[in-house]
Amino acid sequence: MKALLDAVQPGDKDWELAQSIDPARLPAHIAIIMDGNGRWAGRRRLPRVAGHQAGIGPVRSTVETCARLGVKVLTLYAFSVENWKRPRTEVETLWRLLRYYLKQELPELQKNDIRLQAIGRLDALPPQVRRELDAGVEATSANRGLLVNLAINYGGRAEIVDAVNAILDMARLDGSISSLKIDEDSIATSLYTASCPDPDLLIRTSGEMRISNFLLWQIAYAELYVTETLWPDFTRADLLQAVLEYQKRDRRYGGLSGAGRRPADGGSSADENLIEALRSS
Ligand code: IPE
Ligand code: IPE
Ligand code: MG
Repeated sequence: MKALLDAVQPGDKDWELAQSIDPARLPAHIAIIMDGNGRWAGRRRLPRVAGHQAGIGPVRSTVETCARLGVKVLTLYAFSVENWKRPRTEVETLWRLLRYYLKQELPELQKNDIRLQAIGRLDALPPQVRRELDAGVEATSANRGLLVNLAINYGGRAEIVDAVNAILDMARLDGSISSLKIDEDSIATSLYTASCPDPDLLIRTSGEMRISNFLLWQIAYAELYVTETLWPDFTRADLLQAVLEYQKRDRRYGGLSGAGRRPADGGSSADENLIEALRSS
């Protein structure tokens, strides 16, 4: 958080936003569905790939701001298992841009102690992309600052299927298959994101009110934030605004908020009157 205030000086347009953030209530894990690149390009009468190219700057600035804020994990949805349906040339451009990003950003990631991890069905990636991705993950593996999960050829359902199959394979190997029972813990620890806390805040750009197969298991209690801003226009201010909105939310996890509960007995006297009336009816 201090690092953010170092980067945002008084008089800077993001100063007030940064000042308003409560450092004690930061989301530990932010996940982002980076959407709207194609529409951004379309509005400028540019080819869709120009939108993807323009999406690199916001990736850079979002990674930097999360690191400065002291967020622990940032998960970015870069390519879904369904995105193969797009024209081959668009998909190839996305791979080219991913390689460009890795090459360009590696020194900066190292300097800022940022660790890269890739999540998804990585075996299906073009070999050269896979090699460079593995190299980036390996080169940053000892870093201990922000963890950036790049979700590539990622699908939430595929991830759950892969987790269950990994549990079955393990049980076959150690001979425990006949008595195997699967529970929430065993699934959670077999997901690609096993080492991460669940996302606290899920941001989607471009206004779409859907999840598009992203982190289906992990977002059970994430706070959702949808902005109309298209991904290439997503700035530090947009990210800080999302964090501020998150800090206003009352996360109840199915329980009651502080305001709806009386500390002594967990219920209000109006509740008690109603319970009594039901009992005697
Ligand atoms: C998100 O932007 C990037 C990827 C899915 C790779 P889109 O390409 O989906 O942009 P829109 O939704 O068509 O505007
Ligand atoms: C989700 O966006 C995938 C990524 C951002 C990588 P899409 O553009 O693929 O999702 P839909 O098709 O609008 O649901
Ligand atoms: Mg889209």
